[in-house]
Amino acid sequence: RSSLRPAAMGAVACAVRSISSTKATAARVAVVGASGGIGQPLSMLLKLDPSIKELNLYDIVHTPGVAADLSHIPFPAKVTGYKGADSIHAALEGCDVIVVPAGVPRKPGMTRDDLFNINAGIVKTIAEASAKVAPKACYLIISNPVNSTVPIFAEVLKKAGTYNPKKLFGVTTLDVIRANTFVAENQGTDVLQTNVTVVGGHAGTTILPLLSQVKGASFTPDALAALTHRIQFGGDEVVKAKDGAGSATLSMAYAGYLFTAKLLQALKGEKDVVACAFVENTLTAAPFFAAPVTLGKEGVEKVHALGSLSAMEQEALEKALPDLLAQAKKGVEFVQNAK
Ligand code: NAI
Repeated sequence: RSSLRPAAMGAVACAVRSISSTKATAARVAVVGASGGIGQPLSMLLKLDPSIKELNLYDIVHTPGVAADLSHIPFPAKVTGYKGADSIHAALEGCDVIVVPAGVPRKPGMTRDDLFNINAGIVKTIAEASAKVAPKACYLIISNPVNSTVPIFAEVLKKAGTYNPKKLFGVTTLDVIRANTFVAENQGTDVLQTNVTVVGGHAGTTILPLLSQVKGASFTPDALAALTHRIQFGGDEVVKAKDGAGSATLSMAYAGYLFTAKLLQALKGEKDVVACAFVENTLTAAPFFAAPVTLGKEGVEKVHALGSLSAMEQEALEKALPDLLAQAKKGVEFVQNAK
């Protein structure tokens, strides 16, 4: 039920095959941080989505070049680059969906929480602009630490009086696609048919893959522990391999596109669109918690229950909650203490 791949793959395949068979649609999407390692390939994937009419690329550097480059690809989305703080309102105004991969990525030895001091301020500024000129948009937060940046975004919107919990998402899709890849490898199954539900948060041990719920799978205790750890710390593999040049960008761009594509389908009225995302809910004591969510015309339509958990998963959930609560509190306090 948390499958993210087939429909979105279909969208890309459809886009690449032919645009003549696609219906004209009207989605307006902005990417904030569009010149970055994630932002550029994400913007390219969005350019290939025929359901997008306008694609606004905002960053503090390089967006005119990125936009000019992408604008030569023959797909309907009209791509416009907006560079610098003065243009953020123009970039976001009237957008249906705002995707945010702005901010600094990790270097070897850093946790996502280490990024807080820089990225918190960036996300706060983007939330303020969003509240002002795009108060009804859906916001998809990629900037880390997601466990804190989503509460920051919410708090700014609350202050502005525009917060709608159905429209704010922390993007945890990378955890899901990693889980699908690693589980299929381990089980020797078709990766295109493997769908793992990943709940919790988006940092280390707060990432909770529900391997006990993977249909038809059977894991040895060692494999279960190793796979869980690899899904939780898969980002570190990439950070280490990139050796100081950043964190996951290409897989994240793909994941970000998948989630955006799903949301766009749901906003258009498609039924039964389900994806895992970090959203406000009351499933646990944490204010935000990733869970399978049915998406609809107004954003979150339904947050699904977690289903039955193994003893190991239940224990991991209980251990994760204090971290999720503390990281959310840190975000809220950052906004409350800001001038
Ligand atoms: P990057 O450094 O390559 O790109 C970031 C972009 O943000 C740059 O182009 C930069 O100019 C821009 N930027 C900085 N301040 C800005 C502002 N005030 N307004 C608009 N744009 C601004 O970094 P990368 O690798 O693209 O990562 C971006 C963020 O995504 C990081 O915080 C990273 O930790 C996070 N990330 C999240 C993942 C997830 O699963 N949610 C996975 C991987 C990375």
